Amino acid sequence: MRTSILRLGAVLAGAALLSACQLGTKSAEQYGYRGTGMDQINVASAKKTLDPVHVVPPPPYDPPKPGGKPAREAYQNVQVLGDISEDEFSYTMAAITQWIAPEQGCNYCHNPANMASDEVYTKVVARRMLQMTRGINTSWKSHVKQTGVTCYTCHRGQAVPAANWALPAAGNPNTIIGNRFNQNNPVDSVAYASLPTTGMAKYLIDPSAPAARVNSKGSHPSAANKASVMEAESVYGLMMHTSSALGVNCTFCHNADSLQSWNVSTPKRPLAWYGIQMVKDVNGNYITPLKSVFPKHRLGPMGDPLKVNCATCHRGINKPLNGVSMVKDYPALRPTGPMVTAAAAPAAAVPSAAATKTP
Ligand code: HEC
Ligand code: HEC
Ligand code: HEC
Ligand code: HEC
Repeated sequence: MRTSILRLGAVLAGAALLSACQLGTKSAEQYGYRGTGMDQINVASAKKTLDPVHVVPPPPYDPPKPGGKPAREAYQNVQVLGDISEDEFSYTMAAITQWIAPEQGCNYCHNPANMASDEVYTKVVARRMLQMTRGINTSWKSHVKQTGVTCYTCHRGQAVPAANWALPAAGNPNTIIGNRFNQNNPVDSVAYASLPTTGMAKYLIDPSAPAARVNSKGSHPSAANKASVMEAESVYGLMMHTSSALGVNCTFCHNADSLQSWNVSTPKRPLAWYGIQMVKDVNGNYITPLKSVFPKHRLGPMGDPLKVNCATCHRGINKPLNGVSMVKDYPALRPTGPMVTAAAAPAAAVPSAAATKTP
């Protein structure tokens, strides 16, 4: 009797171990060659995508009909949204209030005695953010497609988006912890791995930064094979972030056969490449120049503004807000007109999505 109970216990414990501890129904989607581990495994019962944070809120009221006096004639100090109608302007103000400062209201950005004044810093930031959002929706269709983005894609009802980052504080070599050289520090930006936290600073700020590439181009040391271990670790840190920000594993984009080769990568990898270039544009050309506008308490430990990474929009899923196009209800944020092309991608370095085949 006793031995059979023990045996039963052993069988149950074995079954629990074999089930890899994650309960729930799983679905597997194959992304590449059989046997290369290129599957995306989703836990259906986790219902991650049903979390309210991924749900698009309704517009403040029915979108106004087109036509009417342009905002630049109706108001005194309209520098970005001058091309839309007065009604659409009010509708857009109502929407951004819901998205950025639902509790504080219009006065979060305005002096109610003089709406045209730029004395509140948040209004100056918001104006630049309007340009940035228009820029993303028109110049970065290579990444955001027709789905586009609104302020809500990043802000989700908060003045400061929950997923942000800044330059990490430099370690002090005189303390007991010493200088960790920006690693061995379990932080979110590298998915809590002991990798350098500087990967984002290296690859996600400067639009002219080098590509995140470290793989050797030959089997012997040569001038072409100069990447250091530290650089390789920085790329891995960035890749850990990418995976956790999208809630996917490495084979969502790469073929484990060769992490380097674009030919065997999935079509998601060029999309991610455009994502990296877009984030550099956003951080380098829009957010960093706002440094002097922000009050001190809005800056990171090294005095730089809080910046965007893949998680700012994606929040743990492969398409932000489940791929629902929110911007279609806010035409002010996606002006029509000749489409501006994305910063030219070196054709040889980056295959277009159409050119990469999933075997
Ligand atoms: C998140 C910041 C923000 C919030 C909140 C906000 N606004 Fe604005 N508002 C702006 C910006 C930025 C401009 C200038 C837009 C431009 O230059 O194109 C502006 C301009 C205006 C103007 C034009 C003033 C003029 O004469 O130049 C009016 C009117 C206005 N807003 C009304 C409102 C109302 C009403 C609300 C609340 C429902 C509101 N705003 C909430 C940022 C904000
Ligand atoms: C790509 C992501 C992204 C988008 C899209 C975006 N923002 Fe921001 N925004 C940020 C980040 C990151 C910060 C934080 C900067 C900091 O605090 O140092 C910020 C800060 C702000 C602030 C300052 C808040 C404060 O309390 O200091 C305002 C106001 C703002 N955004 C308005 C807007 C408006 C209006 C839109 C849409 C027209 C918009 N943002 C779209 C990322 C974004
Ligand atoms: C969402 C897509 C995506 C995911 C997920 C992803 N990567 Fe990447 N990876 C890329 C892109 C895009 C590049 C190229 C970056 C560039 O050229 O600047 C890259 C580059 C690399 C490189 C450098 C290749 C070279 O040419 O030197 C390595 C190594 C790498 N990834 C490993 C990983 C690992 C390990 C994971 C999982 C932890 C991962 N990646 C997850 C998209 C992804
Ligand atoms: C400004 C918001 C924003 C940021 C920041 C952002 N993305 Fe995206 N991303 C989107 C949107 C919107 C889509 C959906 C486009 C569509 O509908 O096909 C998307 C789609 C993708 C896809 C395709 C997913 C699929 O299932 O087809 C990949 C891969 C991706 N993003 C990678 C990245 C990476 C890597 C980063 C960081 C370097 C990043 N994104 C940063 C907005 C963003």
